[in-house]
Amino acid sequence: MKTKSLFTVLLLFITMFITQFSLAQLPKETDAQKAERLKWWTDARFGMFIHWGLYALPARHEWVKNAERMTNEQYEKYFDLFNPDMWDPHEWAKMAKAAGMKYVVLTAKHHEGFCMFDSKYTDYKVTNTPYGKDIVKEYVEAFREEGLKVGFYYSLLDWHHPDYTIDRNHPQRQTSDTAYDRLNKGRDMNRYREYIKNQVRELLTNYGEISIIWFDFSFPGKHGKGHDDWDSQNLLKLARSLQPGIIVDDRLDLEDVEGGWDFTTPEQVQVSKWPEVNGKRVPWETCQTFSGSWGYYRDENTWKSPAQLLELLIESVSKGGNLLLNVGPTARGVFDYRAQDRLRAIGEWMKFNNRSIYGCSEAPAEFTAPANTLLTYNPLSRRLYIHLLAYPMGSLTLPNMADKVKYIQFLHDASEIRFKTLEEAKNDLILTLPILKPPVEIPVLEVFLK
Ligand code: GLC
Repeated sequence: MKTKSLFTVLLLFITMFITQFSLAQLPKETDAQKAERLKWWTDARFGMFIHWGLYALPARHEWVKNAERMTNEQYEKYFDLFNPDMWDPHEWAKMAKAAGMKYVVLTAKHHEGFCMFDSKYTDYKVTNTPYGKDIVKEYVEAFREEGLKVGFYYSLLDWHHPDYTIDRNHPQRQTSDTAYDRLNKGRDMNRYREYIKNQVRELLTNYGEISIIWFDFSFPGKHGKGHDDWDSQNLLKLARSLQPGIIVDDRLDLEDVEGGWDFTTPEQVQVSKWPEVNGKRVPWETCQTFSGSWGYYRDENTWKSPAQLLELLIESVSKGGNLLLNVGPTARGVFDYRAQDRLRAIGEWMKFNNRSIYGCSEAPAEFTAPANTLLTYNPLSRRLYIHLLAYPMGSLTLPNMADKVKYIQFLHDASEIRFKTLEEAKNDLILTLPILKPPVEIPVLEVFLK
């Protein structure tokens, strides 16, 4: 009897030990250590998202398989035809760099389940299409050569894998529990969980240093999927063990787990202020499209203007965040002409004004932005940047700043901006600006503080 209970206690300890080390236990770090790990990324502020996959062929949204409820058989023609004959990853990398982007995230697999890399664990991959080569490999090499940090987007959803159970976001979604049960018979999420771990291991082992992984996405609840379905903690633990410095988004459904995510991801929205969790400001990055769709969408015409896109970037930095701007390349392997157009315009602005973006963040609370302006601030150089969204009529007042300012210039040409104070409001600065708006999409004033 005694040995038996001793044995039970021992067994309990062993189980606890195993669970402790096989589960949870994400690497621990202090706030300062985390800030240090993310520093290159928070300094960079601007990255490129690339959504590229079979959905470039139908050219009507990357969710087309879902929206049109296509079966694998119906979708197969895109796999049979995938052959981006004009693709030159160096050209893409150069365009990203010229636009001022410092990092890039490519869809290694999107929800359609098609793999842009040569995975050992599936046949549904780029090397089996007419294109025949490992796109992820070519991508990684080209962007790295241009000096950008490279990352992967990896879809947790998979509308092709035979073990992935049909859920409410699946092309074959149902309306009754019995229909779900019938369709999901024989599908085994255990095997699917193994599959995604194997693929994440491949992606984070075979392609050198990977700086970012973007898992997408969780939708817990009825006929949904969350952290238990992905085995999120172990998946993340695996990613961190293979690439200790890697930066991870917040879509694994681990918001409440310490170390379960690095940054939050407001999608296609403008945040009203720096996002907080439990009263603490958190790292964040907004991801945005040019025109509403992530994948190439031929007939979508609501493209944002260069000024709107620049405003998105400046606004993000003015609230302490990053912008990940998406391109959906065509099935020939080129950036749509409208995307090239915008990238060029952004690059033109960034060439002369990037000092108000890189290494910058929200301005200290003592500075109030005048109407129609956005402020950013570089804490190292202690310079304040005033972005003139609407160009004023020859004069601009900076309230309550006379005691703080040493010198002001336009950022794009380093030309002095003269200012004065008035008897009535001694601490306000009245700037004299040229009547003619300089030939800069959004002119920036660089303020040297005392
Ligand atoms: C969404 C969509 C997806 C896109 C992503 C980008 O979760 O499902 O198509 O890749 O957002 O953030």
